[in-house]
Amino acid sequence: MVHRTLLSRILWGLWYACLCNAESYVLDDKVGLGREFDGIGGLSGGGATTRLLVNYAEPYRSQILDYLFKPNFGASLQILKVEIGGDAQTTDGTEPSHMHYENDENYFRGYEWWLMKEAKKRNPNITLIGLPWAFPGWVGHGTNWPYDHPHITVYYVVSWIIGAKQYHDLDIDYIGIWNEKKFDSNYIKVLRDALDKIGLTDVGIIAADGGWSISSAMVIDPYLNDAVKVIGVKIIASDNLWQPISLSLLLDAELHNVVDIIGAHYPGTNTVLDALKTEKKLWSSEDYSTYNDDVGGGCWARILNQNYVNGRMTATISWNLIASYYEELSFGRNGLMTAEEPWSGNYVVESPIWITAHTTQFAQPGWTYLQTVGHLALGGSYVALTDGKGNLTVVIETMTHDHSICIRPPLPHFNVSSQNATFQLKGSFGSVSALQVWHSKFDFKTKKPFFFKKLSPLRISDGTFTLALEPDEVYTLTTITTGQKGSHPAPPASAPFPHSYKDDFNVRNPCFTEAPDFADQTGVFEYYINLTDPGPHVFTLRQVVTQRPVTWAADADQTISVIGDHSWQNLTVSCDVYIETEKTGGVFIAARVDQAGETVRSAKGVFYWVYADGTYKVTNDIAGKVVLAEGLSGTRAGTWHTLTLTVEGQYASGMLNGYPLWKNAVVLAPQNGWAAIGTQTFELAQFDNFAIEAEQ
Ligand SMILES: *[C@@H]1O[C@H](CO)[C@@H](O)[C@H](O)[C@H]1NC(C)=O
Ligand SMILES: *[C@@H]1O[C@H](CO)[C@@H](O)[C@H](O)[C@H]1NC(C)=O
Ligand SMILES: *[C@@H]1O[C@H](CO)[C@@H](O)[C@H](O)[C@H]1NC(C)=O
Ligand SMILES: *[C@@H]1O[C@H](CO)[C@@H](O)[C@H](O)[C@H]1NC(C)=O
Ligand SMILES: *[C@@H]1O[C@H](CO)[C@@H](O)[C@H](O)[C@H]1NC(C)=O
Ligand SMILES: *[C@@H]1O[C@H](CO)[C@@H](O)[C@H](O)[C@H]1NC(C)=O
Repeated sequence: MVHRTLLSRILWGLWYACLCNAESYVLDDKVGLGREFDGIGGLSGGGATTRLLVNYAEPYRSQILDYLFKPNFGASLQILKVEIGGDAQTTDGTEPSHMHYENDENYFRGYEWWLMKEAKKRNPNITLIGLPWAFPGWVGHGTNWPYDHPHITVYYVVSWIIGAKQYHDLDIDYIGIWNEKKFDSNYIKVLRDALDKIGLTDVGIIAADGGWSISSAMVIDPYLNDAVKVIGVKIIASDNLWQPISLSLLLDAELHNVVDIIGAHYPGTNTVLDALKTEKKLWSSEDYSTYNDDVGGGCWARILNQNYVNGRMTATISWNLIASYYEELSFGRNGLMTAEEPWSGNYVVESPIWITAHTTQFAQPGWTYLQTVGHLALGGSYVALTDGKGNLTVVIETMTHDHSICIRPPLPHFNVSSQNATFQLKGSFGSVSALQVWHSKFDFKTKKPFFFKKLSPLRISDGTFTLALEPDEVYTLTTITTGQKGSHPAPPASAPFPHSYKDDFNVRNPCFTEAPDFADQTGVFEYYINLTDPGPHVFTLRQVVTQRPVTWAADADQTISVIGDHSWQNLTVSCDVYIETEKTGGVFIAARVDQAGETVRSAKGVFYWVYADGTYKVTNDIAGKVVLAEGLSGTRAGTWHTLTLTVEGQYASGMLNGYPLWKNAVVLAPQNGWAAIGTQTFELAQFDNFAIEAEQ
């Protein structure tokens, strides 16, 4: 222990020595390199966050994809992580599983396959990651736990990886465990074993997509911990100021062996000692989750640099990739850009896109951080990366506290001031004579920010240059000359959801299984074809989840898909409905549904239900507890009925097959909300000829 104290005194002394000579920073590869850079990415899913993007018309949809994925254009993302749909609510909706039932397999559901292919089309080198949030009920054998039968869960997850290759020619690079839930070491080992046995040795495992605690499970037990401290002082550390450990001292050597990357969520730019001790790659495998205004952009700028500077994390993945879900759902607009109006074609390239470009256009996975990275004397940070062939990229951020707050964790106070920063290029970079300069300025005072602006190249003499840095700026200085601020013509103007809307589900985009604009919040609503039906209901929309999934969030006990404009007050919703479950089945249409996403269980609104037992009900809530009207309807399973619901001011009325069934039900609240369809339980049911007429 004596040696350790001495060592830290020397190090602190050195650090103060640097400070005395403040505002001068050395960039040198000859003192040794830091960790390998693995990229910056976006997360589609967790859940249903890309739902509305797929229904954009061309050319807007392709333009949006360019801003996300096209190299040297916009964000130029290097990692795409997707949810492995599990039929359950995972924040902003449900995503369909490739195996709804034990004997079911289909690799064309949802939009994540399509998205991965669009990303690969633009950047064949993009790293692909899959992670489950939830699982179909059969995987859990009736429990809400997927680990009691690890082989079944492994079979389910590995099938998804094989399906990606077989049906879409997509190579999945990394697979995760179970998002933000307790990890199970045995499951991870069984998964690795299964991947190896079928030849998927290149698919790496990320764990545990939550806190850092998995690293403690790998490394040292408390008894051995003391022994390692003694060994530790003999070896003065690499870039982490940490010493290599002997594998024989690992607590769980097998777990250490099977996990390739330790992925933590919302780490607040910091890691823990045990994570460093594992000597694994450390990733912030989910981060950001902040409203995408300029403070969101500032959050992103700060964490992209400081996740490495403070926490040695070599990849950062944004939840979410793109805000393509109704804004009133949970965490509205928490994406790198916004595309939430497929009906108008309007989208917004927000500041986080250009902040991403500051790194991704000038450093690729496989590049290496220098050891000479750190904080600036008067606030802010800098990182430097090299391709090992003489190229250098330096990213500097001076984001102030209030202009870079992320949603979590709390951000301790810090100060940032104007400062002159001198950088000295040494080692391979000593002879660099010019650097390209890219500049962003978040101007919160005059509200005239600019992003990713190319300035004149900086001439370097004597291997040094000085920048006059102001607060809330981002600079990239680089030898790479291929950077570009891509642009497409301005998209159409923003417009509200159409007041008059119809879908008979007959015209389909064959790429997708879901009807436009419907956002499933519990259950899954899919296009269905009944080839034996000679009548008008061959093409329908069908709710297909028949068992409560292994949930991640608090799914409702009913299924529900919402659509439309959350501000709607007065409207008529109509739909043909087909109950499939004899005697006990039931379906609803609804208006003014006030909430969904994570709080879907508490949704209020006007819900008009009909049941296979010949009754109807009108309730003020999805749970069906607050009854506004009820009675006989003569409805039954196995036949089509037309429901019409009109809400006007404080009154609601309903029709069945074109005849009034109930009227003047009093609705005091909510005042507004989405339209919706759904079922009484997890049961099969169909919907057709859906229509809305909303008051202007
Ligand atoms: C993909 O990576 C390879 C090897 O690093 C590189 O040569 C190629 O230019 C990259 N392709 C794109 C589109 O970035
Ligand atoms: C930097 O990278 C480019 C390719 O982007 C390459 O042509 C060049 O040789 C590299 N090295 C230097 C010192 O610029
Ligand atoms: C920031 O600056 C203020 C005013 O100079 C000072 O009172 C405060 O202690 C500083 N905070 C930190 C975290 O340095
Ligand atoms: C930076 O340097 C310039 C030129 O020497 C000087 O005028 C300016 O005051 C300095 N700025 C700060 C914040 O020290
Ligand atoms: C398909 O249509 C036939 C004929 O109308 C009907 O008997 C059957 O119940 C329908 N099946 C489903 C699943 O809707
Ligand atoms: C809805 O209808 C009520 C009663 O007719 C009216 O007072 C209210 O202004 C209407 N709301 C909208 C948004 O048109």
